[in-house]
Amino acid sequence: MNISFEKSSLPTGGALALLIEQDLELGKAGKAINEAMGGGLKAAIAAAGFEGKEGKTLVVVAPPELDVTHLVLVGIGKGKKAGETAFINAGGEAVKALESAGISGLTIELDGADSDKNAARMAFGAKLRSYYFDKYKTREKDSEKPARPDLTIMTKDPKDAGKEFSDLEGVASGVFMTRDLVSEPANILYPETLAARAAELADLGIKITMLGQAEMEKLGFGALLGVAQGSAREPKLVIMEWKGSEKGENERPVAFIGKGVTFDTGGISIKPAAGMEDMKWDMGGSGVVIGLMKALAARKAKVNAVGVVGLVENMPSSTAQRPGDIVTSYSGQTIEVLNTDAEGRLVLADALWYTEEQFSPRLMVDLATLTGAIIVSLGMENAGLFSNDDKLSKQLTDAGLEVEEPVWRMPMGEVYNKQLASPAADMANISPGRWGGSITAACFLERFVQEGTPWAHLDIAGVTWSDKDKSVKRKGATGFGVRLLDRFVADNCES
Ligand code: BES
Ligand code: MN
Ligand code: ZN
Repeated sequence: MNISFEKSSLPTGGALALLIEQDLELGKAGKAINEAMGGGLKAAIAAAGFEGKEGKTLVVVAPPELDVTHLVLVGIGKGKKAGETAFINAGGEAVKALESAGISGLTIELDGADSDKNAARMAFGAKLRSYYFDKYKTREKDSEKPARPDLTIMTKDPKDAGKEFSDLEGVASGVFMTRDLVSEPANILYPETLAARAAELADLGIKITMLGQAEMEKLGFGALLGVAQGSAREPKLVIMEWKGSEKGENERPVAFIGKGVTFDTGGISIKPAAGMEDMKWDMGGSGVVIGLMKALAARKAKVNAVGVVGLVENMPSSTAQRPGDIVTSYSGQTIEVLNTDAEGRLVLADALWYTEEQFSPRLMVDLATLTGAIIVSLGMENAGLFSNDDKLSKQLTDAGLEVEEPVWRMPMGEVYNKQLASPAADMANISPGRWGGSITAACFLERFVQEGTPWAHLDIAGVTWSDKDKSVKRKGATGFGVRLLDRFVADNCES
Protein backbone atom coordinates (compact mmCIF):
# COMPACT_ATOMS: atom_id res chain seq x y z
CA MET A 1 0.00 0.00 0.00
CA ASN A 2 1.50 3.33 -1.10
CA ILE A 3 0.79 6.12 1.35
CA SER A 4 1.33 9.83 0.83
CA PHE A 5 0.31 13.03 2.59
CA GLU A 6 -0.87 16.08 0.69
CA LYS A 7 -2.35 19.49 1.29
CA SER A 8 -6.15 19.53 1.38
CA SER A 9 -7.89 19.80 -1.96
CA LEU A 10 -10.72 17.83 -3.44
CA PRO A 11 -9.39 14.68 -5.13
CA THR A 12 -10.03 13.50 -8.63
CA GLY A 13 -10.57 9.80 -9.21
CA GLY A 14 -10.69 6.93 -6.74
CA ALA A 15 -12.69 7.00 -3.55
CA LEU A 16 -12.92 9.73 -0.96
CA ALA A 17 -13.23 9.08 2.76
CA LEU A 18 -14.55 11.78 5.08
CA LEU A 19 -14.37 11.74 8.85
CA ILE A 20 -17.70 12.50 10.46
CA GLU A 21 -18.08 13.56 14.06
CA GLN A 22 -20.95 12.04 15.99
CA ASP A 23 -24.26 13.93 15.66
CA LEU A 24 -22.54 16.96 14.20
CA GLU A 25 -22.73 19.03 11.07
CA LEU A 26 -20.58 18.06 8.14
CA GLY A 27 -17.09 19.55 8.00
CA LYS A 28 -15.85 21.88 5.30
CA ALA A 29 -15.16 19.22 2.70
CA GLY A 30 -18.37 17.40 3.54
CA LYS A 31 -20.39 20.56 3.07
CA ALA A 32 -18.79 21.27 -0.29
CA ILE A 33 -19.57 17.76 -1.46
CA ASN A 34 -23.11 17.89 -0.17
CA GLU A 35 -23.60 21.09 -2.12
CA ALA A 36 -22.15 19.60 -5.28
CA MET A 37 -24.60 16.72 -4.83
CA GLY A 38 -27.56 19.06 -4.41
CA GLY A 39 -28.03 17.97 -0.80
CA GLY A 40 -27.60 14.28 -1.71
CA LEU A 41 -24.94 13.55 0.89
CA LYS A 42 -27.10 14.70 3.79
CA ALA A 43 -30.02 12.79 2.36
CA ALA A 44 -27.94 9.61 2.17
CA ILE A 45 -26.74 10.07 5.75
CA ALA A 46 -30.30 10.52 6.96
CA ALA A 47 -31.61 7.58 4.95
CA ALA A 48 -28.94 5.24 6.32
CA GLY A 49 -29.34 6.48 9.89
CA PHE A 50 -25.59 7.15 10.00
CA GLU A 51 -24.64 9.02 13.18
CA GLY A 52 -20.86 9.28 13.01
CA LYS A 53 -20.30 6.75 15.78
CA GLU A 54 -16.78 5.45 16.20
CA GLY A 55 -16.27 2.25 14.22
CA LYS A 56 -19.20 2.88 11.85
CA THR A 57 -18.87 3.59 8.14
CA LEU A 58 -21.24 4.37 5.30
CA VAL A 59 -20.31 3.88 1.65
CA VAL A 60 -22.14 6.02 -0.88
CA VAL A 61 -21.59 5.46 -4.58
CA ALA A 62 -20.73 8.94 -5.83
CA PRO A 63 -22.99 10.64 -8.37
CA PRO A 64 -21.49 11.63 -11.74
CA GLU A 65 -21.16 15.29 -10.80
CA LEU A 66 -18.31 14.39 -8.45
CA ASP A 67 -14.82 13.44 -9.59
CA VAL A 68 -14.67 10.40 -7.31
CA THR A 69 -16.27 6.96 -7.55
CA HIS A 70 -17.23 6.35 -3.92
CA LEU A 71 -17.68 8.37 -0.78
CA VAL A 72 -16.96 6.69 2.53
CA LEU A 73 -18.19 8.36 5.64
CA VAL A 74 -16.12 7.24 8.61
CA GLY A 75 -17.47 7.82 12.10
CA ILE A 76 -14.94 9.39 14.46
CA GLY A 77 -17.14 9.88 17.52
CA LYS A 78 -15.73 12.85 19.42
CA GLY A 79 -14.04 14.32 16.36
CA LYS A 80 -10.73 16.02 16.98
CA LYS A 81 -11.06 15.22 20.66
CA ALA A 82 -11.19 11.49 19.89
CA GLY A 83 -8.28 9.44 21.21
CA GLU A 84 -5.30 7.98 19.42
CA THR A 85 -6.83 4.60 18.65
CA ALA A 86 -10.05 6.15 17.34
CA PHE A 87 -8.03 7.62 14.46
CA ILE A 88 -6.02 4.44 13.94
CA ASN A 89 -9.21 2.39 13.83
CA ALA A 90 -10.90 4.93 11.53
CA GLY A 91 -8.03 4.51 9.05
CA GLY A 92 -8.59 0.76 9.18
CA GLU A 93 -12.36 1.13 8.79
CA ALA A 94 -11.98 3.36 5.74
CA VAL A 95 -9.95 0.70 3.96
CA LYS A 96 -12.19 -2.10 5.22
CA ALA A 97 -15.35 -0.40 3.92
CA LEU A 98 -13.96 -0.39 0.38
CA GLU A 99 -12.30 -3.78 0.32
CA SER A 100 -14.77 -5.28 -2.10
CA ALA A 101 -15.22 -2.10 -4.18
CA GLY A 102 -12.22 -2.82 -6.40
CA ILE A 103 -10.86 0.72 -6.13
CA SER A 104 -7.23 1.59 -6.77
CA GLY A 105 -7.04 4.96 -5.04
CA LEU A 106 -8.37 6.28 -1.74
CA THR A 107 -8.13 9.80 -0.42
CA ILE A 108 -8.85 10.49 3.22
CA GLU A 109 -10.00 13.96 4.22
CA LEU A 110 -9.74 14.58 7.96
CA ASP A 111 -12.24 17.37 7.60
CA GLY A 112 -11.74 19.41 10.74
CA ALA A 113 -9.84 16.87 12.81
CA ASP A 114 -6.56 17.31 11.05
CA SER A 115 -3.26 17.46 12.81
CA ASP A 116 -0.08 15.78 11.71
CA LYS A 117 -0.57 13.20 14.45
CA ASN A 118 -4.11 12.31 13.44
CA ALA A 119 -3.14 12.13 9.77
CA ALA A 120 -0.31 9.74 10.62
CA ARG A 121 -2.61 7.64 12.82
CA MET A 122 -5.15 7.29 10.03
CA ALA A 123 -2.37 6.15 7.71
CA PHE A 124 -1.10 3.68 10.32
CA GLY A 125 -4.56 2.14 10.76
CA ALA A 126 -5.07 1.88 7.01
CA LYS A 127 -1.68 0.25 6.62
CA LEU A 128 -2.31 -2.26 9.43
CA ARG A 129 -5.65 -3.17 7.86
CA SER A 130 -4.09 -3.68 4.43
CA TYR A 131 -2.20 -6.81 5.52
CA TYR A 132 -3.36 -9.87 3.65
CA PHE A 133 -1.49 -13.20 3.67
CA ASP A 134 -1.95 -14.65 0.18
CA LYS A 135 1.48 -16.15 -0.39
CA TYR A 136 0.06 -19.58 -1.19
CA LYS A 137 -3.03 -18.50 -3.13
CA THR A 138 -1.75 -19.06 -6.63
CA ARG A 139 -5.08 -18.79 -8.46
CA GLU A 140 -6.71 -15.86 -6.71
CA LYS A 141 -7.18 -12.96 -9.10
CA ASP A 142 -6.40 -9.41 -8.01
CA SER A 143 -10.08 -8.61 -8.41
CA GLU A 144 -10.90 -11.31 -5.83
CA LYS A 145 -8.50 -9.95 -3.25
CA PRO A 146 -9.39 -7.18 -0.82
CA ALA A 147 -8.59 -3.87 -2.51
CA ARG A 148 -5.44 -2.23 -1.19
CA PRO A 149 -5.66 1.20 -2.77
CA ASP A 150 -2.95 3.81 -3.01
CA LEU A 151 -3.70 6.10 -0.13
CA THR A 152 -3.53 9.87 0.03
CA ILE A 153 -4.20 11.65 3.30
CA MET A 154 -5.17 15.30 3.05
CA THR A 155 -3.79 17.39 5.88
CA LYS A 156 -2.51 20.88 6.67
CA ASP A 157 1.12 19.90 7.17
CA PRO A 158 1.94 17.00 4.90
CA LYS A 159 5.63 17.11 5.80
CA ASP A 160 5.06 16.88 9.54
CA ALA A 161 2.51 14.14 9.06
CA GLY A 162 5.04 12.21 7.01
CA LYS A 163 7.57 12.55 9.78
CA GLU A 164 5.07 11.35 12.38
CA PHE A 165 4.20 8.43 10.16
CA SER A 166 7.73 7.20 9.63
CA ASP A 167 8.01 5.78 13.17
CA LEU A 168 4.55 4.23 12.89
CA GLU A 169 5.53 2.69 9.58
CA GLY A 170 8.45 1.09 11.38
CA VAL A 171 6.07 -0.40 13.93
CA ALA A 172 3.78 -1.64 11.14
CA SER A 173 6.75 -3.35 9.48
CA GLY A 174 7.32 -5.22 12.75
CA VAL A 175 3.65 -6.19 13.04
CA PHE A 176 3.70 -7.46 9.45
CA MET A 177 6.80 -9.52 10.08
CA THR A 178 5.10 -11.17 13.06
CA ARG A 179 1.93 -11.83 11.05
CA ASP A 180 4.00 -13.29 8.20
CA LEU A 181 5.84 -15.67 10.52
CA VAL A 182 2.72 -16.75 12.42
CA SER A 183 0.83 -17.38 9.15
CA GLU A 184 3.45 -19.71 7.67
CA PRO A 185 2.75 -23.45 7.82
CA ALA A 186 5.11 -25.69 9.77
CA ASN A 187 6.49 -27.50 6.72
CA ILE A 188 7.92 -24.18 5.56
CA LEU A 189 8.69 -22.57 8.90
CA TYR A 190 10.72 -24.77 11.25
CA PRO A 191 13.54 -23.86 13.62
CA GLU A 192 16.20 -23.43 10.96
CA THR A 193 14.05 -21.43 8.55
CA LEU A 194 12.54 -19.34 11.32
CA ALA A 195 16.06 -18.58 12.55
CA ALA A 196 17.02 -17.56 9.02
CA ARG A 197 14.08 -15.16 8.88
CA ALA A 198 15.17 -13.61 12.19
CA ALA A 199 18.71 -13.30 10.83
CA GLU A 200 17.41 -10.97 8.09
CA LEU A 201 17.12 -8.32 10.80
CA ALA A 202 20.89 -7.90 10.57
CA ASP A 203 20.11 -5.51 7.68
CA LEU A 204 18.61 -3.10 10.20
CA GLY A 205 21.67 -3.10 12.45
CA ILE A 206 20.58 -5.88 14.78
CA LYS A 207 23.34 -8.20 15.91
CA ILE A 208 22.37 -11.84 15.44
CA THR A 209 23.86 -14.79 17.30
CA MET A 210 22.64 -18.37 16.96
CA LEU A 211 23.12 -21.48 19.00
CA GLY A 212 22.53 -24.87 17.40
CA GLN A 213 22.17 -28.34 18.84
CA ALA A 214 25.88 -28.82 19.59
CA GLU A 215 26.30 -25.47 21.36
CA MET A 216 23.18 -26.01 23.43
CA GLU A 217 24.34 -29.50 24.39
CA LYS A 218 27.65 -28.06 25.55
CA LEU A 219 25.87 -25.44 27.65
CA GLY A 220 23.51 -28.06 29.12
CA PHE A 221 20.13 -26.92 27.79
CA GLY A 222 18.51 -30.17 28.90
CA ALA A 223 14.98 -28.77 29.12
CA LEU A 224 14.86 -27.24 25.63
CA LEU A 225 16.73 -30.14 24.02
CA GLY A 226 14.39 -32.70 25.59
CA VAL A 227 11.51 -31.11 23.69
CA ALA A 228 13.47 -30.99 20.44
CA GLN A 229 14.75 -34.58 20.53
CA GLY A 230 11.69 -36.11 18.88
CA SER A 231 12.02 -33.97 15.78
CA ALA A 232 14.21 -34.40 12.72
CA ARG A 233 14.58 -30.60 12.72
CA GLU A 234 17.51 -29.17 14.60
CA PRO A 235 16.57 -26.68 17.37
CA LYS A 236 17.94 -23.15 17.42
CA LEU A 237 18.30 -20.36 19.91
CA VAL A 238 18.44 -16.97 18.21
CA ILE A 239 19.71 -13.90 20.03
CA MET A 240 18.96 -10.46 18.57
CA GLU A 241 20.63 -7.37 20.01
CA TRP A 242 19.62 -3.79 19.30
CA LYS A 243 21.83 -1.11 20.80
CA GLY A 244 20.12 2.23 20.48
CA SER A 245 20.53 3.67 23.97
CA GLU A 246 22.06 7.13 24.17
CA LYS A 247 23.69 6.02 27.42
CA GLY A 248 25.95 3.76 25.41
CA GLU A 249 26.14 0.15 24.46
CA ASN A 250 27.01 -1.01 27.94
CA GLU A 251 23.73 0.05 29.45
CA ARG A 252 21.88 -3.04 30.68
CA PRO A 253 19.30 -4.09 28.10
CA VAL A 254 15.63 -4.84 28.40
CA ALA A 255 15.04 -8.44 27.35
CA PHE A 256 12.22 -10.11 25.46
CA ILE A 257 12.04 -13.89 25.31
CA GLY A 258 9.74 -15.86 23.01
CA LYS A 259 8.42 -19.41 22.82
CA GLY A 260 9.06 -20.68 19.33
CA VAL A 261 7.50 -24.12 19.01
CA THR A 262 7.19 -24.24 15.23
CA PHE A 263 4.72 -27.09 15.57
CA ASP A 264 3.25 -28.58 18.73
CA THR A 265 1.84 -32.07 18.24
CA GLY A 266 1.99 -32.54 21.99
CA GLY A 267 4.79 -35.08 21.53
CA ILE A 268 4.15 -38.53 23.04
CA SER A 269 1.35 -36.94 25.12
CA ILE A 270 -0.17 -36.33 21.71
CA LYS A 271 -2.95 -33.83 21.06
CA PRO A 272 -6.31 -34.81 19.51
CA ALA A 273 -6.47 -34.46 15.70
CA ALA A 274 -9.25 -31.85 15.65
CA GLY A 275 -7.74 -28.39 15.53
CA MET A 276 -4.16 -29.57 15.70
CA GLU A 277 -3.38 -27.46 12.62
CA ASP A 278 -3.62 -24.42 14.88
CA MET A 279 -0.39 -25.51 16.48
CA LYS A 280 1.54 -24.06 13.54
CA TRP A 281 1.18 -20.78 15.42
CA ASP A 282 2.70 -22.13 18.60
CA MET A 283 5.75 -20.06 17.66
CA GLY A 284 3.69 -16.90 18.19
CA GLY A 285 5.75 -15.67 21.15
CA SER A 286 8.94 -15.85 19.12
CA GLY A 287 7.15 -14.18 16.21
CA VAL A 288 6.29 -11.22 18.43
CA VAL A 289 9.84 -10.94 19.77
CA ILE A 290 11.25 -10.94 16.23
CA GLY A 291 8.66 -8.42 14.99
CA LEU A 292 9.25 -6.23 18.03
CA MET A 293 13.01 -6.17 17.43
CA LYS A 294 12.30 -5.18 13.84
CA ALA A 295 9.99 -2.37 14.98
CA LEU A 296 12.51 -1.05 17.51
CA ALA A 297 15.31 -1.03 14.97
CA ALA A 298 13.13 0.41 12.20
CA ARG A 299 12.20 3.41 14.33
CA LYS A 300 15.68 3.58 15.85
CA ALA A 301 14.41 3.29 19.41
CA LYS A 302 16.78 4.79 21.98
CA VAL A 303 17.08 1.62 23.99
CA ASN A 304 19.31 -1.38 24.35
CA ALA A 305 17.08 -4.38 23.80
CA VAL A 306 17.77 -8.05 23.41
CA GLY A 307 15.40 -10.61 21.95
CA VAL A 308 15.92 -14.32 22.59
CA VAL A 309 13.81 -16.99 20.92
CA GLY A 310 13.90 -20.73 21.60
CA LEU A 311 12.96 -22.60 18.43
CA VAL A 312 11.98 -26.27 18.48
CA GLU A 313 9.46 -28.64 16.96
CA ASN A 314 7.53 -30.89 19.38
CA MET A 315 7.09 -34.26 17.64
CA PRO A 316 6.37 -37.84 18.71
CA SER A 317 8.88 -40.37 17.40
CA SER A 318 11.16 -43.14 18.58
CA THR A 319 13.61 -40.51 19.76
CA ALA A 320 11.00 -38.36 21.48
CA GLN A 321 11.01 -37.53 25.15
CA ARG A 322 8.73 -39.82 27.22
CA PRO A 323 6.36 -38.93 30.04
CA GLY A 324 8.33 -39.50 33.23
CA ASP A 325 11.68 -38.53 31.76
CA ILE A 326 13.80 -36.33 34.00
CA VAL A 327 15.85 -33.59 32.38
CA THR A 328 18.43 -31.20 33.80
CA SER A 329 17.79 -27.61 32.78
CA TYR A 330 20.51 -25.06 32.03
CA SER A 331 19.85 -23.58 35.49
CA GLY A 332 20.82 -26.92 37.04
CA GLN A 333 17.30 -27.59 38.34
CA THR A 334 15.89 -30.98 37.36
CA ILE A 335 12.43 -31.40 35.85
CA GLU A 336 10.22 -34.45 35.69
CA VAL A 337 8.37 -34.24 32.37
CA LEU A 338 5.00 -35.69 33.28
CA ASN A 339 3.33 -34.39 30.13
CA THR A 340 5.28 -33.79 26.93
CA ASP A 341 2.58 -31.37 25.78
CA ALA A 342 3.61 -28.88 28.46
CA GLU A 343 6.67 -28.15 26.33
CA GLY A 344 6.67 -24.37 25.99
CA ARG A 345 7.71 -23.85 29.60
CA LEU A 346 10.61 -26.26 29.11
CA VAL A 347 11.86 -24.24 26.14
CA LEU A 348 11.44 -20.96 28.01
CA ALA A 349 13.14 -22.28 31.14
CA ASP A 350 16.48 -22.52 29.36
CA ALA A 351 15.94 -19.40 27.25
CA LEU A 352 15.13 -17.31 30.34
CA TRP A 353 18.12 -18.58 32.30
CA TYR A 354 20.44 -18.04 29.36
CA THR A 355 19.18 -14.49 28.89
CA GLU A 356 19.95 -13.63 32.50
CA GLU A 357 23.35 -15.30 32.49
CA GLN A 358 24.37 -13.63 29.27
CA PHE A 359 22.90 -10.12 29.57
CA SER A 360 21.90 -9.33 33.19
CA PRO A 361 18.88 -7.50 31.79
CA ARG A 362 17.10 -4.59 33.56
CA LEU A 363 13.89 -6.53 33.15
CA MET A 364 12.54 -9.48 31.22
CA VAL A 365 9.25 -9.99 29.43
CA ASP A 366 8.51 -13.38 27.93
CA LEU A 367 5.72 -14.17 25.47
CA ALA A 368 4.24 -17.57 24.79
CA THR A 369 1.17 -19.32 23.47
CA LEU A 370 1.59 -21.26 26.66
CA THR A 371 -1.75 -22.66 27.80
CA GLY A 372 -5.22 -23.47 26.56
CA ALA A 373 -6.35 -22.54 30.07
CA ILE A 374 -5.68 -18.83 29.49
CA ILE A 375 -8.27 -18.93 26.69
CA VAL A 376 -10.76 -20.38 29.17
CA SER A 377 -9.92 -17.56 31.60
CA LEU A 378 -9.74 -14.51 29.36
CA GLY A 379 -11.11 -15.51 25.97
CA MET A 380 -9.64 -13.86 22.89
CA GLU A 381 -9.76 -10.28 24.20
CA ASN A 382 -6.99 -10.06 26.78
CA ALA A 383 -3.59 -11.67 27.09
CA GLY A 384 -2.74 -13.07 30.52
CA LEU A 385 -0.14 -11.12 32.46
CA PHE A 386 1.86 -12.78 35.22
CA SER A 387 4.60 -10.91 37.01
CA ASN A 388 6.76 -10.64 40.09
CA ASP A 389 6.74 -6.83 39.85
CA ASP A 390 3.85 -4.38 40.36
CA LYS A 391 5.52 -1.49 38.54
CA LEU A 392 6.28 -3.56 35.44
CA SER A 393 2.73 -4.95 35.53
CA LYS A 394 1.26 -1.46 35.57
CA GLN A 395 3.50 -0.28 32.76
CA LEU A 396 2.49 -3.22 30.58
CA THR A 397 -1.18 -2.85 31.45
CA ASP A 398 -1.12 0.86 30.59
CA ALA A 399 0.73 0.31 27.31
CA GLY A 400 -1.79 -2.38 26.37
CA LEU A 401 -4.73 -0.05 26.94
CA GLU A 402 -3.06 2.72 24.92
CA VAL A 403 -2.73 0.52 21.82
CA GLU A 404 -5.81 -1.67 22.36
CA GLU A 405 -3.78 -4.80 22.99
CA PRO A 406 -5.02 -5.29 26.53
CA VAL A 407 -3.47 -7.57 29.13
CA TRP A 408 -5.06 -8.68 32.36
CA ARG A 409 -3.00 -9.48 35.42
CA MET A 410 -3.49 -12.92 36.95
CA PRO A 411 -2.46 -14.07 40.42
CA MET A 412 0.58 -16.14 41.32
CA GLY A 413 1.96 -17.26 44.67
CA GLU A 414 3.13 -20.14 46.79
CA VAL A 415 -0.22 -21.98 46.94
CA TYR A 416 0.02 -22.43 43.18
CA ASN A 417 3.76 -22.80 42.99
CA LYS A 418 3.85 -25.76 45.36
CA GLN A 419 1.55 -27.72 43.05
CA LEU A 420 4.61 -28.29 40.85
CA ALA A 421 6.20 -30.60 43.41
CA SER A 422 7.60 -33.83 42.01
CA PRO A 423 8.40 -36.94 44.01
CA ALA A 424 11.38 -37.64 41.79
CA ALA A 425 12.92 -34.32 40.68
CA ASP A 426 13.17 -30.64 41.70
CA MET A 427 9.82 -30.03 40.02
CA ALA A 428 7.29 -31.49 37.63
CA ASN A 429 6.38 -29.69 34.41
CA ILE A 430 2.65 -29.79 35.20
CA SER A 431 0.43 -29.54 38.23
CA PRO A 432 -2.04 -32.32 39.04
CA GLY A 433 -5.64 -31.65 38.02
CA ARG A 434 -6.97 -29.23 35.43
CA TRP A 435 -7.49 -26.07 37.42
CA GLY A 436 -5.43 -22.89 37.29
CA GLY A 437 -3.20 -24.31 34.57
CA SER A 438 -2.04 -20.92 33.27
CA ILE A 439 -1.02 -19.89 36.76
CA THR A 440 1.00 -22.98 37.56
CA ALA A 441 2.64 -22.62 34.14
CA ALA A 442 3.69 -19.08 35.10
CA CYS A 443 4.95 -20.34 38.47
CA PHE A 444 7.07 -22.85 36.59
CA LEU A 445 8.64 -20.05 34.53
CA GLU A 446 9.30 -17.93 37.60
CA ARG A 447 11.60 -20.66 38.91
CA PHE A 448 13.94 -19.75 36.04
CA VAL A 449 14.04 -16.03 36.80
CA GLN A 450 16.74 -14.87 39.18
CA GLU A 451 15.80 -13.18 42.44
CA GLY A 452 15.46 -9.41 41.98
CA THR A 453 14.93 -9.30 38.23
CA PRO A 454 11.62 -7.67 37.29
CA TRP A 455 9.91 -10.20 35.06
CA ALA A 456 6.58 -10.53 33.30
CA HIS A 457 5.10 -13.38 31.33
CA LEU A 458 2.42 -12.78 28.70
CA ASP A 459 0.34 -15.82 27.84
CA ILE A 460 -0.84 -14.94 24.33
CA ALA A 461 -2.53 -18.25 23.42
CA GLY A 462 -5.93 -16.51 23.06
CA VAL A 463 -4.84 -13.44 21.12
CA THR A 464 -2.27 -14.62 18.60
CA TRP A 465 -4.81 -15.81 16.05
CA SER A 466 -8.25 -14.35 15.40
CA ASP A 467 -11.30 -15.81 13.71
CA LYS A 468 -12.90 -12.38 13.66
CA ASP A 469 -12.24 -9.36 11.48
CA LYS A 470 -11.41 -6.17 13.38
CA SER A 471 -10.68 -2.60 12.24
CA VAL A 472 -6.94 -2.95 11.92
CA LYS A 473 -6.56 -6.70 11.56
CA ARG A 474 -8.40 -9.13 9.41
CA LYS A 475 -8.85 -12.66 10.66
CA GLY A 476 -5.71 -14.73 10.98
CA ALA A 477 -2.42 -13.81 12.61
CA THR A 478 -2.90 -10.66 14.71
CA GLY A 479 0.63 -9.59 15.60
CA PHE A 480 -0.71 -8.90 19.13
CA GLY A 481 2.18 -7.90 21.35
CA VAL A 482 4.32 -5.91 18.93
CA ARG A 483 2.47 -2.62 19.32
CA LEU A 484 2.04 -3.28 23.05
CA LEU A 485 5.73 -3.85 23.74
CA ASP A 486 6.85 -1.17 21.33
CA ARG A 487 4.71 1.28 23.32
CA PHE A 488 5.95 -0.14 26.62
CA VAL A 489 9.52 0.53 25.50
CA ALA A 490 8.70 4.01 24.17
CA ASP A 491 6.92 5.03 27.38
CA ASN A 492 9.28 3.51 29.93
CA CYS A 493 12.62 2.34 28.65
CA GLU A 494 14.09 4.83 26.20
CA SER A 495 16.99 7.08 27.12
N1 BES B 1 0.71 -24.71 22.79
C1 BES B 1 -0.11 -25.26 23.80
C2 BES B 1 -1.11 -24.24 24.35
C3 BES B 1 -2.18 -23.77 23.40
C4 BES B 1 -3.40 -24.43 23.33
C5 BES B 1 -1.99 -22.65 22.63
C6 BES B 1 -4.38 -23.98 22.47
C7 BES B 1 -2.98 -22.20 21.79
C8 BES B 1 -4.18 -22.87 21.71
C9 BES B 1 0.76 -25.75 24.95
O1 BES B 1 2.00 -26.24 24.60
C10 BES B 1 0.01 -26.87 25.59
O2 BES B 1 -0.17 -27.86 24.96
N2 BES B 1 -0.41 -26.67 26.84
C11 BES B 1 -1.15 -27.66 27.54
C12 BES B 1 -0.61 -27.74 28.93
C13 BES B 1 -1.08 -28.92 29.71
C14 BES B 1 -0.51 -30.20 29.13
C15 BES B 1 -0.67 -28.76 31.13
C16 BES B 1 -2.61 -27.22 27.54
O3 BES B 1 -2.88 -26.02 27.61
O4 BES B 1 -3.47 -28.10 27.41
MN1 MN C 1 1.91 -28.28 24.07
ZN1 ZN D 1 2.80 -25.52 22.86
